Amino acid sequence: MSSFGHVEALARRRALLCSRAVPRLDRLLARTLGLSRKQSTRLCRAGRVVAEDGAALRDPAHPLPPSRLPITVRVDARPVTLRARYHLLQHKPRGVVTALRDRRHRTAFDLLAQAREEVPLLRDLRAVGRLDLDTSGLLLWTTEGPLLHRITHPRYAVPRVYHVALARPWSPLPPDLTLEDGSRPRVQALAPLERAAAHPALHVPDEAAALATITLTSGMFHEVRRVFAALDSHVLGLCRVAYGSVTLPRELAPGEHRELDLHAEFANLHPASDESSSSSASKSSSSSSSSSSSSSSSSSSSSSSSSSSSSSSSSSSSSSSSSSATPPPAQDVTPA
Ligand code: URA
Repeated sequence: MSSFGHVEALARRRALLCSRAVPRLDRLLARTLGLSRKQSTRLCRAGRVVAEDGAALRDPAHPLPPSRLPITVRVDARPVTLRARYHLLQHKPRGVVTALRDRRHRTAFDLLAQAREEVPLLRDLRAVGRLDLDTSGLLLWTTEGPLLHRITHPRYAVPRVYHVALARPWSPLPPDLTLEDGSRPRVQALAPLERAAAHPALHVPDEAAALATITLTSGMFHEVRRVFAALDSHVLGLCRVAYGSVTLPRELAPGEHRELDLHAEFANLHPASDESSSSSASKSSSSSSSSSSSSSSSSSSSSSSSSSSSSSSSSSSSSSSSSSATPPPAQDVTPA
């Protein structure tokens, strides 16, 4: 079995075990309210946890099968919704790091913790991939490790769409683009982007000479910056506008977040075929000189599908071929 197969099998086994373990009241209370198990046990025993019908839930081991979740109980008369999992999308602003804690900078997690009253299972949330300190845009969070593992694993080749402000036009994408460390980014699409179609979350400095939209199905460190450096350009502003079928709502303010159902979004996720996950693009690409307004606007429409995206796009994702959870690329530069 390949190492990926092994990890995948372990993740599946863990998920199965978790799914068999019926959640208990004390555990869910502890996770939801950020309490220790001892504290949540005490709450129950003291009769401070009450069901919707008014009955006190004194047994800390009271089972709450997944089919009954989410469920609302009252703790000291305050309604508390208990759930086993939670996902959200966040508009990560520039200047915060993708981390739980950091000594020097504010973190994307700090922004969630600031709104802890409205973020269930806060302590269990983990970011799906990373955005650089200076990158803005779509950051997904989930409490589910196996799901996070799947949607970030290169085998599933989930497309990530970025809008980019550049210091100068880029040179044509070679079919075998190789970065300075020998890695081969998987560029699914690259096209010029019109200013009006750029996501409002993209920072465009005055000195920017070109805008682009790029779709990658790999997720390497500083990948977009390194791709444009390899194409003789330089990234001045970078914003992730989509991850699979999930798009960053245009009206979502920096630092704000919104709940979404990641299971629905990635319901049709399959391992990519060899062709679609193969390294880099091997056909001619568009450079900034080959202006294509239609391609840039198609990209922007995917990013502007806004708040409804999280609930509506899962069905559209099923029609995709290489990765099932993807809007159509701005311009396909991968081999057919
Ligand atoms: N590529 C980058 O270079 N930076 C990011 O933050 C994301 C992708």
